[in-house]
Amino acid sequence: MPRKILVTSALPYANGAIHLGHLVEYIQTDIWVRFQKMSGNECWYVCADDTHGTPIMLRAEKEGITPEQLIARVHGEHSRDFAGFHVGFDNYYSTHSDETRDCANNIYGKLKSAGLIETRTIEQYYDPVKQLFLPDRFIKGECPKCGAKDQYGDNCESCGAAYAPTDLKDPYSAISGAKPELRTSEHYFFKLSDPRCETFLRQYTSRDNGVLQNEAANKMQEWLGAPGENKLTDWDISRDAPYFGFEIPDAPGKYFYVWLDAPIGYMGSFKNLCQRNGLDFDEYFKPDSKTELYHFIGKDILYFHALFWPAELAHAGFRTPTKIFAHGFLTVDGAKMSKSRGTFITAESYLNTGLNPEWLRYYYAAKLSATMEDIDLNLDDFCARVNSDLVGKYVNIASRSAGFIAKRFNGQLAPAAADLPAIKSIQEAAARVAELYEAREFGKAMREIMALTDAANQYVDSVKPWELAKQEGKEVELHAACSNALNLFRLLSVLLKPILPVVVAKVEKFLNIAPLAWTDTQSLLAAGHAINTYEHLMTRVDPKQIEKLVEANKESLAPTQEQQSQQRHAEHQQNEVKAESPWEPFCNIDDFMKVDLRIARIANAEHVEGADKLVRLTLDVGNNETRNVFAGIKAAYDPAQLIGRLTVMVANLAPRKMKFGLSEGMVLAASDSTGKTPGIFLLSPDSGAEPGMRVK
Ligand code: 2FM
Ligand code: ZN
Repeated sequence: MPRKILVTSALPYANGAIHLGHLVEYIQTDIWVRFQKMSGNECWYVCADDTHGTPIMLRAEKEGITPEQLIARVHGEHSRDFAGFHVGFDNYYSTHSDETRDCANNIYGKLKSAGLIETRTIEQYYDPVKQLFLPDRFIKGECPKCGAKDQYGDNCESCGAAYAPTDLKDPYSAISGAKPELRTSEHYFFKLSDPRCETFLRQYTSRDNGVLQNEAANKMQEWLGAPGENKLTDWDISRDAPYFGFEIPDAPGKYFYVWLDAPIGYMGSFKNLCQRNGLDFDEYFKPDSKTELYHFIGKDILYFHALFWPAELAHAGFRTPTKIFAHGFLTVDGAKMSKSRGTFITAESYLNTGLNPEWLRYYYAAKLSATMEDIDLNLDDFCARVNSDLVGKYVNIASRSAGFIAKRFNGQLAPAAADLPAIKSIQEAAARVAELYEAREFGKAMREIMALTDAANQYVDSVKPWELAKQEGKEVELHAACSNALNLFRLLSVLLKPILPVVVAKVEKFLNIAPLAWTDTQSLLAAGHAINTYEHLMTRVDPKQIEKLVEANKESLAPTQEQQSQQRHAEHQQNEVKAESPWEPFCNIDDFMKVDLRIARIANAEHVEGADKLVRLTLDVGNNETRNVFAGIKAAYDPAQLIGRLTVMVANLAPRKMKFGLSEGMVLAASDSTGKTPGIFLLSPDSGAEPGMRVK
């Protein structure tokens, strides 16, 4: 009976480009799915963009577009990159979909009815300028452990310490530069610490249950604590407006936290596929389902997938994942991917540089195992291995024999020698290789396949078709040798098909055969079978291409195509407008509203020692707050005259460190750039305006 299998890869965030680190997972999953499909199983592979959350909202704002426009554009880019690497999703969807919203509301409602949702008032940093609660990553300040400046609110990149954002010294908002305020808000929690969740998770994540790799199961025991010591903590699943996401049905102004609806996006994507393909969603998600569900993920998101997600599913009346497969991270040349070294390589740049995606698929396969160990892309080894294994060994078998069959035997094959040791070894190895694919031991599978490829080449070397071809009366031997070689090549192609789908599709065309399935390892081509003309299957990697790729990814040299076109557009527009008009180019109202203009009272003004042009202003901006601003107005104003007067300031200009101290804004003044009317004229509001009032 064919198995019914649903497979997912982690949903990439919709605010960044796909890079070679991401591709480890998508290629790993795609190989596994292709193997299942070739083996006759009903296997569905779904994924989606992870579209919600504050970073996506802010990124869209920065680009001057709506979040919907941003996620639509990124969906196109991600789909293009995945297709470029032959990642064959059955559905690549979006979490910003009706299906995901319905599933999220349904799961939330069921957890609530089960008494597993509760509200609590929490304290969180709030950006008073931007007027939103700040996620940890958007708060920066001095590390409480080592004192390093400009560290994020969750951990220090300098000393590695982990802490709460409230531990940071001199915190500031990474969005506006403003000093964050602690404010209270009501949040919704999933009660992971409930005894029902604990009991379920202890059993579900145990080594004996086999859902997790052993190393992951061990980690779970750490997170759960020893029996009797429940270390699980409740999970905050809500965020306050403004937020890009799904509003919680019975809680206006509260939104599901992105990590609540992300895994639910697996269901949403599959539900959409079911509707399109007439599949039965419930058959896959009912509690006693006979189908299998597998999640491929990175080891960094194990907590979400092995604890929260199964606990949610189990207590909302759904089946739980059959297995969760975590993989390690990618290093390049033994180090973390780096933008300055050019090793933070985007999928797009790889393809644009003209590198063959199947080279990378093969290299990753050769390095992958079922463990959570990191894998290294060594760029020299990449060239050497692809050239030696794929071009030098595999493709070589066909290129050395196809021509003789075409030229000397009218394109028709002689019977294959079923008892040839090289043929028999492949047929016997097929079941072992299948087990290795099933177990995600792709590296071991590749080693086995390459050993079989070596044996096939040894056969060709031993019969020497090129010499037989020169000798008279050796037609039969030549025909047999080349026919055996092409049969060997066909068998090896079956084994490599999950890795090299495009090359093997070309092989199928060249050999004039139906798409290869795993069972084809047990058959041979019939005598008299006619093949098509051989066309070259794969070129060698030129190390110069790799140099070009690394250069293209060096940060300062690597604007994306989109950035380039944006920049060209902006330059073009500026030149055009400036040439014939004294006005700045148009900005839209959203651009204008980004500038937070406020009334300020000059509480103090003084000369700055050693500065020719600057006056130090202390501005009262209302709310009992003051700002220190250095203004270049010394030529026009005596500081003493300025004290007490009102003016207008830019309150959300990122703070700037100057030689004389930190400048926390800018006051507005008029001047004549033509020089006809020299002078600087500080703005003043009409009387009645108060410090802190917004100017718009
Ligand atoms: O870590 C990430 O990139 C998340 N966007 C993964 C989400 S996976 C799943 F839960 F949707
Ligand atoms: Zn530190």
